[in-house]
Amino acid sequence: MKNILITGGAGFIGSNFIHHILNHRSTLHITNLDDLTYSGNLDNLKDIQNLDRYHFIKGNICDPEAINCLFQKYTFDTVVHFAAESHVDRSIQNPMQFIETNVVGTANLLRNALVFWEKLEPGQKRTFRFLHVSTDEVFGSLDAGDPPFSETTPYAPNSPYAASKAASDHLVRSYYQTYHFPAIITNCSNNYGPFQFPEKLIPLIILNAIAGKPLPIYGDGRQIRDWLYVLDHCQALLEILEKGKIGETYNIGGNNQPANLDIVRQICSILDELCPESPFRPHSQLIQFVPDRPGHDRRYAMDTRKIEKEIGWQPRENLESGLMKTVKWYLDHPDWVENIQRKPDYQAWMNVNYSQRGAAKR
Ligand code: NAD
Ligand code: TYD
Repeated sequence: MKNILITGGAGFIGSNFIHHILNHRSTLHITNLDDLTYSGNLDNLKDIQNLDRYHFIKGNICDPEAINCLFQKYTFDTVVHFAAESHVDRSIQNPMQFIETNVVGTANLLRNALVFWEKLEPGQKRTFRFLHVSTDEVFGSLDAGDPPFSETTPYAPNSPYAASKAASDHLVRSYYQTYHFPAIITNCSNNYGPFQFPEKLIPLIILNAIAGKPLPIYGDGRQIRDWLYVLDHCQALLEILEKGKIGETYNIGGNNQPANLDIVRQICSILDELCPESPFRPHSQLIQFVPDRPGHDRRYAMDTRKIEKEIGWQPRENLESGLMKTVKWYLDHPDWVENIQRKPDYQAWMNVNYSQRGAAKR
């Protein structure tokens, strides 16, 4: 792996991945293609923007001309595809944007990558990899006693986000089956950590609690996610690029499955400890139940035996250590937070998603 194209590298996981591989693979050259949508943020990459081994291109994965030019100009040996619309609540408000980016964009990227790959020398063709970064949400929702999702669990997506990611996974799979295109798919559970856009549960709760604002819990708060610290995800992706088999899918998860309400309470106690002077202590008094998300998946859980056995990967962080690092990161980066919070489109989203939701009677 010498010359890697990363799509969506200005987002949460993509920017963590870029930092991670720069730190762990000293000769790698990175091209980051990102269209800088609301969740793309060059502040995430400020510290590396002048490195010779890294360069940024603003571009849209849906643009056939731009993607064609990219593959004409550079000789990539690896593509890691993160670029996507990624928030379930936004997909409920605006599903077509998810079809465009996640389905059409992935199709456009694949088509151009295939043309590029077919022209490579046999040796380069053999080592080329296209890694498609996907989600556990394609598998749908589990009931309390169900076994966790494995790589053979049938797809049953419930939100427009999950359906658009499922469609993109199917396209990637079809390129391997039809053209022997060297693709690998990963399905990962919920990530958390530095640089996560504060529309997702964990950063939103941390920032609202610091500011003394209500902590919105959808429905009864007993929904379960399998939380993974983002750098553990990045390490899994790196190891899969180096050791994974083409045509395979790998589940990645954290084996941390608290209910939403418990994770919010945990964040509150961390803040109680780290901010003893806060007027909002105990922060759990800010918890407020709000009407549920439509079609809200009840439970996700991942069976990670395949990646453990075949790749030798396991997460390093547990929820306690990962949450402590994450809360400290948000406390230590008020400028990063403020740059997002003062944008009118962020305030507009908060208004659409929360003010119009209203407080539920319980
Ligand atoms: P994010 O929303 O933080 O970042 C997405 C990035 O993609 C942004 O930088 C954005 O500007 C860019 N982008 C969006 N549309 C684009 C387009 N048309 N062309 C080029 N760039 C575009 O998302 P994230 O949480 O970092 O997720 C990254 C990937 O990982 C997604 O594919 C997501 O489905 C997957 N994933 C996320 C999680 C999670 O918990 N966040 C879990 C599993 C899988
Ligand atoms: P989220 O971070 O949006 O990730 P996903 O929907 O992809 O799992 O939400 C995580 C869980 O937290 C999910 O069950 C929805 C819930 N949630 C809330 O209860 N309140 C909120 O304000 C948000 C954003 C999410």
